[in-house]
Amino acid sequence: MKNIVLTGFMGAGKTEAGRELSRILGWKIIDVDDEIVKAQNMTINEIFSKFGEPVFREMETEMIRKVSQNRKVIISTGGGAVLRQENLDILREHGVIICLRAGPETILRRTKDNNERPLLQVEDPLKRIKELLEFRKPFYEKADIMIDTDEKTPFHIAEEILERMGWKR
Ligand code: S3P
Repeated sequence: MKNIVLTGFMGAGKTEAGRELSRILGWKIIDVDDEIVKAQNMTINEIFSKFGEPVFREMETEMIRKVSQNRKVIISTGGGAVLRQENLDILREHGVIICLRAGPETILRRTKDNNERPLLQVEDPLKRIKELLEFRKPFYEKADIMIDTDEKTPFHIAEEILERMGWKR
């Protein structure tokens, strides 16, 4: 059985949908960012400000390699993980890659009260979200399955994932 790998932009609902999947399947959820935070004993903001994004991306690939050794788990990745083909190759070896998609306004609504996302700590976050979404679109579309999450609850997103994978009884 393949792992379930959740990709998608910040605020696309990976964490919440992952928790629902974990509850439904009884599988453990591993959040790549949380694992990096634990391993470094620093927040994502601290890692970005102290070492910069390129170092974070190295840590991310290393952690993706590590967590991909698990079986029958849900792996929730950070929004930029898809930017490296190497990450996708590692994740796909034992997993199905699901990309959760949301529109810029939904993303803004879901992310605005959380200041733990260094890439969105700018004057005009909506503009930044639109730019990043535009640039990253072809990378997100490399997923095996794309799912829209606007207006959907985490439970419905989880159900849709299982349905699209052909795992729903
Ligand atoms: C990032 C997304 C974040 C985190 C980091 C960079 C990105 O994860 O990895 O702030 O480049 O989109 P979430 O998607 O879980 O917020």
